[in-house]
Amino acid sequence: MAKPKRIGILTSGGDSPGLNAAIRGVGKAALGFYGMTLVGFRDGFRGLAEDRKMPLEKDTLAGILTIGGTILGASRDKPHRMVIDGRTRDMTDVIKDNYKKWGLDCVVCLGGGGTQKNALRLHQAGLNVITLPKTIDNDVAMTDATFGFATALDIATDTLDRLHSTAHSHHRIIVAEIMGHRAGWLTLGAGIAGGADVILIPEIPYDVVKIAEAIKRRSRRGTNFSIVAVAEGAMSRDDARAITAAEKKLERAKTLHDKKEAKIEIATLEVRHAGNTMRLAKHLEELTELESRVTILGYVQRGGTPCAADRILATRLGSACADLINAEHYGVMVAARGDDTEAVPLERVAGKRKIVPVDHSWIQTARHVGTCLGD
Ligand code: F6P
Repeated sequence: MAKPKRIGILTSGGDSPGLNAAIRGVGKAALGFYGMTLVGFRDGFRGLAEDRKMPLEKDTLAGILTIGGTILGASRDKPHRMVIDGRTRDMTDVIKDNYKKWGLDCVVCLGGGGTQKNALRLHQAGLNVITLPKTIDNDVAMTDATFGFATALDIATDTLDRLHSTAHSHHRIIVAEIMGHRAGWLTLGAGIAGGADVILIPEIPYDVVKIAEAIKRRSRRGTNFSIVAVAEGAMSRDDARAITAAEKKLERAKTLHDKKEAKIEIATLEVRHAGNTMRLAKHLEELTELESRVTILGYVQRGGTPCAADRILATRLGSACADLINAEHYGVMVAARGDDTEAVPLERVAGKRKIVPVDHSWIQTARHVGTCLGD
């Protein structure tokens, strides 16, 4: 009889609700259904490099479905550029040795865009790897959905609902900053569900004068409050132009010196962008003469119990992952495709980002109900 497969699992990147549900989904199907064995690696790829493990048995997997965060811990460490004792090292060979030493047949990596790239690197280095897509940003390419998004969407929507009543009482503008540096799915979704009057996302650079006009139009109609849902990466047209120019410079750079210069320029612009929401609120106050306040939702959006939709998605993807391991179908991400799942080669996922297309139906919907998108 063939030796039962031995699987490693890790959670990498920012945490998101549903990670434990996914670990349980992979684990229950792998252990209970296929008779495999499972070991967890702590704190993302770092655990794999530093050989820090956690046994995952039926008992450990029980009772974690509803728990937020990840029982394995997470980090944003990359296998090929990891700080060890104060020195940045390529840990790929160390990881390969540990993989062999532990007799692993496959490593399952749960993570967002960065994790897909790192997993592909390990796959290209000779490891059997499968990934699952998680992130509250919903921006992983080639999958209909990522787990964590639905829960964060509920949290952000609930917050907008609460902000509505206080904005209404005080006749104020409340600017609510929602997570998402590069993709506006969460802000757009919560903005529609929470009836925001203005929705600002990274994909549509805004003009603050146009936003102020929309708010003033509401005032003239007798509604003296407004909710502005702004993604953390949303930018004014001028800022977007500057960053696009710097990114183009980086793409065109031929020498190391030019690359370095362009990277410094991008980093400087990004640093300048921090605090953008506060400046936006101040600017709107000046232009509309309405008092403005800011609420930054922050990490509340990533914490706590996953909603039912995320539990189902994480469990579906996890159990499909065990099927793929059983079939020895490696080097893929388990994508959500309608009611089904699909194994997508990591090469087609890594380095890509699913942003909101400007002609997406959610954008049309927001416009049709009179929401200002800042353009
Ligand atoms: O990628 C998910 C995300 O929550 C983003 O929306 C946010 O910008 C980022 O992570 C914050 O990351 P960190 O945990 O490193 O502060």
